[in-house]
Amino acid sequence: MKYWFSLIIPFALAIGMTVAQAKDHESKPPTKVTFDEALPESGNLVLGIYENGNGGQYGETLDSSTDAGLSYAIKAAGFKGKKMATKVITAPKGSGYDQILLVGLGKDDNSNTSLDWQKIGGNAVQAAIKAFKEAPAMAFDLPKDVSANLAYGAKLGSYYFDKYYTDEKRLKYQPSLTVVTPDPDATSEYYQAELDPVANAIWYTRDVSNEPGNIIYPESFVEYWEDLFDDMDDIKITIFDEKDMIKKNMGAIYGVGRGSKRPPRMMIVEYRGGEKDDAPVMIVGKGITFDTGGISIKGSENMWNMKFDMSGAASTMGTLYALAGRGAKVNAIGIAAMAENMPGGNAQRPGDVVTSMSGKTIQIRSTDAEGRLVLADAVYYGDVTYNPALLVDLATLTGSAARALGKDYGALFTRHEELTADFIDMGKQTGDEVWPLPLNDNHFKAIENEVADVMNSGPGAPGASAGAAFIGAFVRESTPWVHLDIAGVGWNSTPTPMKASPGSTSFGVQLMNGYIKKHFEK
Ligand code: BES
Ligand code: MN
Ligand code: ZN
Repeated sequence: MKYWFSLIIPFALAIGMTVAQAKDHESKPPTKVTFDEALPESGNLVLGIYENGNGGQYGETLDSSTDAGLSYAIKAAGFKGKKMATKVITAPKGSGYDQILLVGLGKDDNSNTSLDWQKIGGNAVQAAIKAFKEAPAMAFDLPKDVSANLAYGAKLGSYYFDKYYTDEKRLKYQPSLTVVTPDPDATSEYYQAELDPVANAIWYTRDVSNEPGNIIYPESFVEYWEDLFDDMDDIKITIFDEKDMIKKNMGAIYGVGRGSKRPPRMMIVEYRGGEKDDAPVMIVGKGITFDTGGISIKGSENMWNMKFDMSGAASTMGTLYALAGRGAKVNAIGIAAMAENMPGGNAQRPGDVVTSMSGKTIQIRSTDAEGRLVLADAVYYGDVTYNPALLVDLATLTGSAARALGKDYGALFTRHEELTADFIDMGKQTGDEVWPLPLNDNHFKAIENEVADVMNSGPGAPGASAGAAFIGAFVRESTPWVHLDIAGVGWNSTPTPMKASPGSTSFGVQLMNGYIKKHFEK
């Protein structure tokens, strides 16, 4: 009797602790952006200034209320208005403010792109938070689409993944941004319809991608997005568990998932915003919630980074969330291929042969080449079930792609070369830049195997192109298909104007949202 009790008590304690942890570390909701016509009366201010000193109507107002004190202070501070430059000055007497953060807008000649304006906004909010520990009102006398892009960049720039700091360390501010602009209603309408839904999608994509492997695993990833999609219209969600996978002969994803106590999942989100008969755009994401390498185990030094190995799946769901949030007139399908790649008594081994849903057999040469395995079943299922007009897979697939293109470009592979230029172009517009690497017959040859139809790795098949060929072997040749290897760009540790927080970049959401908007929406 006594022993029975001593067994039950620690169990109850453990449950209590889990609940407490979940409660203490709540995620911050996305920064709220509002637009206002009037300058605030006091406090600190952020003010946009062109290279020629033009600060628009807000600059003029302040200059006249301070007896030209503002222009004098700008000159005295040596502030030239260069794009991305920022400078804090003591507010001139009579302005009513304490301090003013000057934000350089570059040349006053309409040469800034939307992306430039977004970066100016992100850079400004980061400088404001650094200087004032808050994001005070930001005054920019700019046209509505320009102000909206600036606000979008500022919202993304205010993202910080700080939920696991204890209270004292956690950044104290919850930025809510006010942008002062001449036409707040029209600006807000455009911003709320087109840009804020994308910014929210990016926010949630970063949040889930940054979570460690003890918090996000296949089932919790699915729940996270199910909760978010709950308020959205025209969404249908289907989940396959491991039993469904066995029934559907998805031996490739099942094989990766079997080493973990946390079972694999496939999450299919259908968004129907287009005409009934329009063929959908499809995105398929690699969702390895933690990649130890499995039995072909990785070295321990940088293994912790493999919590980001579900970035492709997160960006896939994020893109669908952005489309639904905008009410985009398009049909789109997102598939997240989720598994945890662990060693263990039930894990698959090098040399094992598995049968994929396509019927093709695969010899496992390295259990660490697991991304292409989960994708094999996911792209095949998606391709034959939905006949997509375009199929894009997003995957942190190979160290080789990361070494080739670094942190600057996602690697693009396709058999449909006419798509390459459009993707490069949209990358430049959105900041999610891509660059092509080869995919040719020799790469398909390299995955041939003497035992099974294909192998997932091996001496003749190293590198990013062989990984691409492996995935391509499970997509029909007639389906327009693009593979994006985002191993180098899925996360980074240095701040950028639109991402102060180290960690997930949400790469792919802006690219795919922009690509679909330009090429598919009605
Ligand atoms: N998730 C990794 C790829 C990766 C490595 C992403 C470094 C980001 C940074 C992937 O599953 C992997 O282990 N790939 C192997 C493939 C090899 C075994 C054929 C690689 O790239 O070494
Ligand atoms: Mn791996
Ligand atoms: Zn991996």
